[in-house]
Amino acid sequence: MKLSVIGAGYVGLTTAACLAQIGHDVFCSESDVEKLAKLQNGGMPLFEPHLEDVIKGVRKAGRLRFGSTEEAIAWGDAIFICVGTPPLANGDADLCAIEVVARAIAKRATGYRLIIEKSTVPVQTGAQLRKHLSVHSTNGLRYDVASNPEFLREGTSVEDFLHPDRIVIGADSPRAAGLLREIYEPIVQQKFTCPIHSGCPKRKDPIFLATDTNSAELIKHASNSFLAMKISFINMVANLCEVVGADVTKVAEGMGLDPRIGPAFLNPGIGFGGFCFPKDVQAFVRIAEKSGCDFSLLKEVEKINQRRVEHFVEKIRKELWVVRGKKIAVWGLAFKPNTDDVRFAPSITLVKALLAEGAAVRAYDPEATEKARAVLPEVTYCTDAYRAAEGADAILIVTEWDEFRQMDWNRLLSTVEQPLVIDGRNVFSPEQISGKGFRYVSIGRVDASPWQAAVGEKIDSSSLRAGNSVQEVPA
Ligand code: UGA
Repeated sequence: MKLSVIGAGYVGLTTAACLAQIGHDVFCSESDVEKLAKLQNGGMPLFEPHLEDVIKGVRKAGRLRFGSTEEAIAWGDAIFICVGTPPLANGDADLCAIEVVARAIAKRATGYRLIIEKSTVPVQTGAQLRKHLSVHSTNGLRYDVASNPEFLREGTSVEDFLHPDRIVIGADSPRAAGLLREIYEPIVQQKFTCPIHSGCPKRKDPIFLATDTNSAELIKHASNSFLAMKISFINMVANLCEVVGADVTKVAEGMGLDPRIGPAFLNPGIGFGGFCFPKDVQAFVRIAEKSGCDFSLLKEVEKINQRRVEHFVEKIRKELWVVRGKKIAVWGLAFKPNTDDVRFAPSITLVKALLAEGAAVRAYDPEATEKARAVLPEVTYCTDAYRAAEGADAILIVTEWDEFRQMDWNRLLSTVEQPLVIDGRNVFSPEQISGKGFRYVSIGRVDASPWQAAVGEKIDSSSLRAGNSVQEVPA
């Protein structure tokens, strides 16, 4: 089918590339001229595993082109709107970009088009779109508006698109529902050439769930808010563990074994970030408020998340006593591993707080340095994690990149000023760091046992103080 995708961000670009991969003829537009030129010249405006290879392949096969919004509108029988819906100051989603695209479609498109909202939008946006299209349509456009929320995670977006658990569509006419089913049939049947796995392992076929537009729109916001709630919940449990001397990893494991709860999204840390959860929770609260429903549960989710960085800074203060003048290594800046995205990343708030207290920050991230530099110019950016740790009074683990699991701790021990690791993502278990000569502080873990403290004391603890969730470990 001839398909158009408007907007080449994480969602749009992945959608365009993967729809082409499963056999459609896709035109993808981008209004940022620099980004568009990059894409047209074979460059990538963002880092996302596998995406570059998929784009190369489908462009070579002639199934993906990049160009202007006008060209995209002229091209597709179905048009996916994948433009940004950033948060406004009051928490509402800013629908400006959607409105501009809808107006352009109304003015330029002819014949019948299926218009699909894929951007995350408040419930009833589909209804607004329909109204807007009929008000501004000048060429006798016939159309359906459908919702097709995406559940892609940055860092695994290609895999998530091609092997989803579910495909949700909200369509209010049989024609729209039928077209969406046709578009996704290769994925529903899992019949396409998979660019990631050779001889794709047999998986459960995705569930194709068709609903009305309002329900589909709500599914997206409700899903993201629920996941955010799970994270804030476990973060509060972690706080409790620190006070009562329990181990949050074990608590989460025990909870997750109940299939009604499940183990996913029970990893405590310095809070959720990225361009989805923080804004979607806020937007969902606003949607509820405007509808006269008091969803204060979600306000708490947001508040708990906002306090995570301060809680982490408090751990740093407790260990270093005085933060001013200290050299602090920050490992990881992206809001999660396998992406270069630093939007609403806890790292940004954290580093700003450390700089405000007078620390010198040396940071390393495998992919996000350039994007972080634009918002945090005062930081010294290092080319690897060892360099970041040179002379450091503390190493902070802020993003759980895999490479941090493979560090040479002897080498680190010889380079740091103070052997202290404060792990904001519980990348290690205290046992894994034990024997490495480092003091290890993490999230929601038990206090050092008397045995561990005693052994640690013998090694090197003269400059270190005991505290909650601290493991002192032998060299
Ligand atoms: C999220 C959803 O998971 C996707 O399903 C959705 O499509 C996407 O938002 C979106 O709306 O576009 P994403 O923001 O890429 O995806 O990242 P997640 O993997 O969900 O992580 C979000 C944040 O939560 C990260 O900062 C991560 O570190 C944090 N997190 C996640 C935790 O702190 N603990 C956990 O147990 C899981």
